[in-house]
Amino acid sequence: MTPFQNTLYTGDNLYVLYGLNSGLADLIYLDPPFNTKRLYSAPVGSRAAGASFKDMWTWKDVDEYYLGKLAINYPALAHYIAGAGAVHSKAMMAYLTYMAQRIVEMHRVLKASGSLYLHCDPTASHYLKGLLDSVFGRDNFRNEIVWSYQRWTAGKLMFQRMHDIILFYTKSKAESKFNVLMEPYSGKSAHQAKRFTQIVEGKLVQNYTEDNVREKSMRDVWDISILNSQSKERTGYPTQKPLALLHRIVKASSNEGDIVLDPFCGCATTCVAAQQLGRKWIGIDIEKQPVKILIDRLSDDAGMFKDFIATDKLPVRTDIQAIAPDSKSVKERLYREQNGLCNGCGHEFDIWNLEIDHIVPKSKGGGSYYENYQLLCGACNKKKGDRPMEYLRMQIETREKLLKQRIVFGE
Ligand SMILES: C[S@@+](CC[C@H](N)C(=O)[O-])C[C@H]1O[C@@H](n2cnc3c(N)ncnc32)[C@H](O)[C@@H]1O
Repeated sequence: MTPFQNTLYTGDNLYVLYGLNSGLADLIYLDPPFNTKRLYSAPVGSRAAGASFKDMWTWKDVDEYYLGKLAINYPALAHYIAGAGAVHSKAMMAYLTYMAQRIVEMHRVLKASGSLYLHCDPTASHYLKGLLDSVFGRDNFRNEIVWSYQRWTAGKLMFQRMHDIILFYTKSKAESKFNVLMEPYSGKSAHQAKRFTQIVEGKLVQNYTEDNVREKSMRDVWDISILNSQSKERTGYPTQKPLALLHRIVKASSNEGDIVLDPFCGCATTCVAAQQLGRKWIGIDIEKQPVKILIDRLSDDAGMFKDFIATDKLPVRTDIQAIAPDSKSVKERLYREQNGLCNGCGHEFDIWNLEIDHIVPKSKGGGSYYENYQLLCGACNKKKGDRPMEYLRMQIETREKLLKQRIVFGE
């Protein structure tokens, strides 16, 4: 099988995206956590039991060094995020930085003719739209799709919140592909052309011919039921989306054989929809649970597609040459982007006192390319060794806590 196709990656999508070739995907659908400050867990006994993910944001979730990088490559975006932080909260700023980091990579991975659909809700949709405008360009905004549904909720001091938002962007205006989908006219106008009168049981009755239901091109408000507790499709995975919703998106913005990518794939609804419609797919989720659910979903669709890969190894780009980590120009560029600071302890150093480090260690599949490099001082680099960045952060936080205690207790 061609690399990167029909593969479910388990891992942080940022590092998986770093390893995917540029211009690979025809369509990206993402349904990230919405910053709702909730912990989502699957019910015990469901196919997804044990699965959970958090949706609360702090600076700890963000690669802080990335903000510095953003300020150089996307100055407007960095200003925008800082503004959202001032208007809303630090948590929103952290969330948007986290999303920006990934959306920039998704934009790179998208083909020139590709489309991206970002699924969110009114908690952050207005902030995310500004972020997408900054990365994709406001001219490449296509639709704000309203997914409208019904569900039982208790009354509150406002209207019931009964919709999600899906922001649709294309990478370019001229080259983008779009298949117009149709929907029937509603009410009387659906049948106007073919109304006729019949005598049924001695009475005159107005009737319509079935085969002539009138259709119009689809609106940006979609009425699709959410999965109720009795639905056969339901896996129990928290926030699972209906296949009908994904079928629409896949049909509109891809053709058979195209590649559909979902970097927050949950129980792999997008991958299943793509496969059912003859597309190739790539799914990524940080949790291990989706692999099990996907295998279950696939065996339910007996024989439909067994030919796929599930892996926790990071992919490695084949479209760029590896850059040697000791290259002088790489070091100088990183030094500028990190403002001369060590990416571990945050202290300022001269360039010759900083060392190039693989953010995702080579032993864990991290590639030798620019996005995977950072500068660390000798002490931080030694401490980090072959471990991931989180380890170094934990060490630094513990040390800072101890230092603070010493200051408080006057040690
Ligand atoms: C809202 S759910 C997606 C639900 C999915 N659309 C479905 O139909 O099942 C968000 C998913 O993003 C995953 N996730 C959160 N952060 C991630 C990250 N950094 N990398 C990959 N997946 C992540 C969570 O584990 C969760 O499964």
